[in-house]
Amino acid sequence: MRIKELKVLFSAGEIESSVNAIAGRINAVYKDEPLVVVCVLKGAFMFFGDLVRRIENKNLEVDFVRLSSYGSGTVSSQKVVLGKDVDIDLKGKHVLVVEDIVDTGHSMRFLLDEFADRGALDVKLAVLVDKKERRVVPVAPDFTGFELSDGFIVGYGLDCAEQYRQLPDICEVIMVGEVDGNNLP
Ligand code: PRP
Repeated sequence: MRIKELKVLFSAGEIESSVNAIAGRINAVYKDEPLVVVCVLKGAFMFFGDLVRRIENKNLEVDFVRLSSYGSGTVSSQKVVLGKDVDIDLKGKHVLVVEDIVDTGHSMRFLLDEFADRGALDVKLAVLVDKKERRVVPVAPDFTGFELSDGFIVGYGLDCAEQYRQLPDICEVIMVGEVDGNNLP
């Protein structure tokens, strides 16, 4: 299997409009209430950077997590663990998790439940690309940029074997050969 071409699916301009719209909704929801915005590394780094600079909250803190998942190879039995945790105590604060893509939902189900257990006031989720048709466990984002039924995408933080994260557009990878439809190479 090899990459034949990268086809722009969501352009940098479309992404910018979407991020602006999400930021506007976030500003209306939280105003200046204590808010911790959490970036899920690595894929969300670009979305996170663009989004937080548009959030006007005067009581905003940022933090970062890294998730690792492993399992028996079937998508329904994934185990997710925190490879890097937040440093900030989330108790009594609003938490906004910023994620690039939700696919099966295993990663976000784990993280949202984990943060809720720590006594956060509430835990919301902003996702740039929601592949909701591929959901295995329930996850309902509060703020969504784009919906996508299927396809393997790279760019704007998303990778293929750590390549292409720096692209300003989100592109679909067109392969020669077999593709499993998942976004996890
Ligand atoms: C991707 C993506 C999400 C997760 C979504 O991360 O960034 O975190 O997979 O999959 P799920 O809904 O099926 O759990 P990846 O493991 O590729 O790491 P990365 O963000 O470092 O690229």
